Amino acid sequence: MQLTPQQLRQFDEEGYLFLPDCFSEEEVATLRDEAEQIYATNRQEVWREKTGAPRTAFAAHTYNEAFRLLGNHPRLIRPVEQVFGEKLYMHQYKINAKAAFEGDVWQWHQDYGTWARDDGMPEPRAMNIAVFMDEVMPINGPLMLVPRSHKHGVLSAGHDEETTSYPLWTLDNETVTRLVNLGGIVAPTGKPGGVLMFHGNLVHGSAPNITPYPRRIVYLTLCAVSNYIRKPTRPEWIAHRDFTPIEPVADGALLDYARAYKREAAE
Ligand code: SIN
Ligand code: MN
Repeated sequence: MQLTPQQLRQFDEEGYLFLPDCFSEEEVATLRDEAEQIYATNRQEVWREKTGAPRTAFAAHTYNEAFRLLGNHPRLIRPVEQVFGEKLYMHQYKINAKAAFEGDVWQWHQDYGTWARDDGMPEPRAMNIAVFMDEVMPINGPLMLVPRSHKHGVLSAGHDEETTSYPLWTLDNETVTRLVNLGGIVAPTGKPGGVLMFHGNLVHGSAPNITPYPRRIVYLTLCAVSNYIRKPTRPEWIAHRDFTPIEPVADGALLDYARAYKREAAE
């Protein structure tokens, strides 16, 4: 999958790109199943909300075959390679749950702020690419983005270790107000299988989910290989130290896996 010059321009100007229908329901259904099995374990990589509901599961590409195939998928890797003009490695991998009724807030932040401060990443040459596993709706805690905020570089932030179970470098209300006055707020919504890529400096956050509809999203953090992290402070399963360039799998690999998984379940 190649991005068009118009899509590349939109990414550069607005700081994000939404690509609906990248994965089929058959592919995504298997990911949802596997995510639930991961959330049900007590692996150290599974972080929970204060209520005990799953919040995020790290590094699933290292211990689950379906998520490994997704992490090496050409529909995700190729567009990001195109933006950075070089090979990529996986800096971080999260399956965020935003569970029905219990999914908590992600405060306003920039991803690169954390990668720079906590991991020693030299440049914002990494980005999150999100795969919707559920329908993301205006009501179930969609990711909210501040268009064009990536043009403002790394903003000063405070380290919030209190509000949720996940420590985050968050922005203050004045900064967010100033940027929203310039760019507004968008919340891309859509069916499972949609993909959202956004610049490492784009300001974003999400509200709690008080609906009965879960909003599970997988986030691959893909980093240009030359931009590998220099001073990691977080565990290896949060900020990876394996800088091997990703070689994409075949386009049909996840679908083949999903069909085999379904056959096995029917037997
Ligand atoms: C993030 O910004 O890393 C996660 C936000 C979300 O899943 O809502
Ligand atoms: Mn983020």
